[in-house]
Amino acid sequence: MHILVTGGAGYIGSHTCILLLEAGYEVIVFDNFSNASKESIKRVEKIAGKPITVIEGDIRHREDLDKIFDAYKIDAVIHFAGLKAVGESVEEPLNYYDNNIHGTIVLCEAMAAHGCRSIVFSSSATVYGEPHTTPIKEDFPLSATNPYGRSKLFIEEMLRDLYISDPAWKIVLLRYFNPVGAHISGTIGEDPHGIPNNLMPFIAQTAVGKRAFLSVFGDDYDTHDGTGVRDYIHVMDLADGHVKALEKIESFNEVMTINLGTGKGYSVLDMVKAFEKASGKHVPYKIAPRRAGDIAKCFADPSYAKKILGWEATRSIKEMCEDSWRWQSNNPNGYAEEIVGVAEKDPRVNHS
Ligand code: NAD
Ligand code: WQD
Repeated sequence: MHILVTGGAGYIGSHTCILLLEAGYEVIVFDNFSNASKESIKRVEKIAGKPITVIEGDIRHREDLDKIFDAYKIDAVIHFAGLKAVGESVEEPLNYYDNNIHGTIVLCEAMAAHGCRSIVFSSSATVYGEPHTTPIKEDFPLSATNPYGRSKLFIEEMLRDLYISDPAWKIVLLRYFNPVGAHISGTIGEDPHGIPNNLMPFIAQTAVGKRAFLSVFGDDYDTHDGTGVRDYIHVMDLADGHVKALEKIESFNEVMTINLGTGKGYSVLDMVKAFEKASGKHVPYKIAPRRAGDIAKCFADPSYAKKILGWEATRSIKEMCEDSWRWQSNNPNGYAEEIVGVAEKDPRVNHS
């Protein structure tokens, strides 16, 4: 079976490609490399010992997509491609709506035109906005507080409308919680450009000496130690969720909306301690003001994923930290070869 993986060179896509290859699928990665390196695919091929067909192109360009659907009989699409930085989405809303929403429209049009109607879509726990309680179930109210989140909400609605218009579509919406970690080989991992927005890469870069300290955004939340609590999930567990979704997709007779999380919440300081233990490195931190838009607690009720997909996360916080550290320490500059100076552009670093 041929699986088209949009955004397959990125963080979650590259890890998913390994499991797809291991499961015997033919993998075609389609990526514009706006936030990824071709090196990630080379390393995935090495890990899996199998080749990937890589096509450079943009999901907003119908002709790029038509070439693939004309050349291969695609059985299903896993759709990771999109922009994901919350802060950037506030500054560049049109770019986010264009990439994420317009891109998904063009992709679905191309799929329909070529008789491919099975899609697994990367949604996010961000669609729950500020949840009234935890753990979060799939039927909780939805809202968005920024253009990135709104783009995910719109796409979910759009895909539901598509199914109503034509129930031949097979659609799985996977709502990821906080993906972290890396493949156990330490050869692929998350490689954010510039200053990381997310906690785990920031901790890892601090441990390796690229950042002077971590700013902990708020210590006065209503949580066990006052810092924000999240459901961190190992990226390989997440990847496995996609393979399970693909195995079941043809049997679904409705749009499936599924949380992918562990059901456990860890605070920022829990993560700092776990990372220090896993890496043997000190992670200096300073308490900073709350980050605008952050919520106190967010963790999943993952029981529906277990019931429907037979999936559950198996990797611990220890493994998440150990695997992140192996990737970070083996590749201090990610996939890039050049040496990046220490935190010279980080406004949170005191250079005096
Ligand atoms: P990523 O940026 O590493 O991967 C996205 C990939 O899509 C990149 O390789 C990028 O080059 C590519 N891409 C972007 N726009 C494109 C376009 N117009 N055409 C073709 N390719 C394009 O991000 P990721 O962390 O792997 O996330 C994958 C998906 O999961 C995204 O849709 C993201 O919104 C979603 N998601 C991520 C997280 C997270 O915290 N990482 C959480 C929830 C949901
Ligand atoms: C986690 C915790 C921060 C950085 C974001 C997106 C969400 C989803 C996942 C895509 C919070 C704290 C962070 C730092 C800190 N992405 N923190 N210092 O905000 O839960 O979710 O990524 O869909 O949409 O919003 O993840 O890793 O940014 O933050 O103290 O330098 O770490 O306040 O409590 P978040 P995160």
